[in-house]
Amino acid sequence: MKKTPLLFALCLASSPLAAEEEAQRAASIFFEKEVRPILANRCYECHGEKKQKGGLRVDALGYLKTGGDTGPALVPGEPEQSPLIEAIRYQKEDFQMPPKQKLPDAEVAVLEKWVKLGAPWPVQAHETAVVTEGGFTEEQRKFWCFQPLANPALPPLTGGWAHNGIDRFIAQKHAELGLTPAPEADTREFARRATMDLHGLPPSREQLETLERDRSPARYERFIDSLLASPHYGERWAQHWLDLARYAESDGYNADEFRPAAWPYRDWVIKSLNEDKPYDQFVREQLAGDEISPEKPEVLVATGYLRNPLYEWNQADVRGQWDLILTDITDTTGELFLGLSFGCARCHNHKFDPILQKDYFRLRAFFAPIQWRDDLTLGTPEEQAATARL
Ligand code: HEC
Ligand code: HEC
Repeated sequence: MKKTPLLFALCLASSPLAAEEEAQRAASIFFEKEVRPILANRCYECHGEKKQKGGLRVDALGYLKTGGDTGPALVPGEPEQSPLIEAIRYQKEDFQMPPKQKLPDAEVAVLEKWVKLGAPWPVQAHETAVVTEGGFTEEQRKFWCFQPLANPALPPLTGGWAHNGIDRFIAQKHAELGLTPAPEADTREFARRATMDLHGLPPSREQLETLERDRSPARYERFIDSLLASPHYGERWAQHWLDLARYAESDGYNADEFRPAAWPYRDWVIKSLNEDKPYDQFVREQLAGDEISPEKPEVLVATGYLRNPLYEWNQADVRGQWDLILTDITDTTGELFLGLSFGCARCHNHKFDPILQKDYFRLRAFFAPIQWRDDLTLGTPEEQAATARL
């Protein structure tokens, strides 16, 4: 009877699972005592959290396996196929790491052994991050604003004050944070805020009186609808869009020549808002109105968007200026339509948002063939033909 527990313990010790655990423990110790200090002391300075020379980080296995600008830095188990090993051996003249001085042979041997062992890296939560192209983690790619639009379920009605779906989300957060909302605005406050928001002006006496006389439960909705139906709504809100699109009626720089033909684009933005043009159409027409409907002046004019960058007609460095213009169009397009600081990806993969430099130039290539023409008239084919005859 006494033997059983002992036998049982022996079985456990020699089970494949236990052996594997033991090997993992040994690998962890080897990594922590010998490998990580080399990476930290010799490489982090240029390949860590702050700097990623050559696009590479070496502070997590995922980064090493995905690699930097020229691909994977390491193939577990295959030192001969791992650029990292090639670099520390100083095999090639133009690829030597660390660049300033070769590592002591003992350290090279440690890293060789480590890769040969399959590059064991003790698992810690932040190191299990799945790293994708450009060194971005899956987590970064899953950031809420990169997700497709969805119709989430509404939180339950709480607080008693919530009228619509958006209110419910706010009420839910209020409850979470223990906040109570400010009292509801009275009629005049409401009218003032709504009119300032939608028209950029205070309400007229007449507008106020109409609202105050209206006793129906839908009076607020009616008031907002009347503001939205007014052409002043488009005039006000176009201002925001035109600012972001960098619209101007002159060229900028020193000469700052007038752009007498800029205003039809401005009017197109105003009209699009007042007509409730669907947003996807609004975007497409500005980027490619000439491809979509070259025969329709009301669509073609939207490409005025592509004419907003700074310009100086007597610029000595023509190619340099064209480069600035393409950069401006690309950066503005990223910022305007995606709300991201796109320009960073011109020089390197974006450091914070998952935008690859490669994709930046793919977008830019789309704009490269643009030609700014001042000799064309805006009109239907019939109108064009008629003016050509004059
Ligand atoms: C003083 C800065 C510096 C240090 C320290 C440094 N590197 Fe680099 N590393 C660079 C630069 C810069 C590049 C970009 C390519 C080049 O210029 O050679 C690079 C590129 C690399 C690449 C190629 C990345 C790619 O995909 O293009 C590898 C692999 C690499 N380093 C490994 C290491 C390792 C391993 C260490 C530590 C033993 C290390 N480096 C230390 C500056 C450094
Ligand atoms: C005109 C080119 C250019 C633009 C545009 C640019 N960067 Fe950089 N950035 C660089 C260069 C060059 C480096 C150094 C690269 C290196 O060390 O490998 C760098 C390095 C960095 C670093 C690493 C810091 C360091 O010390 O290595 C961060 C973070 C960074 N940039 C963020 C940004 C952000 C954010 C933007 C956009 C708002 C941006 N960059 C736009 C050229 C640019």
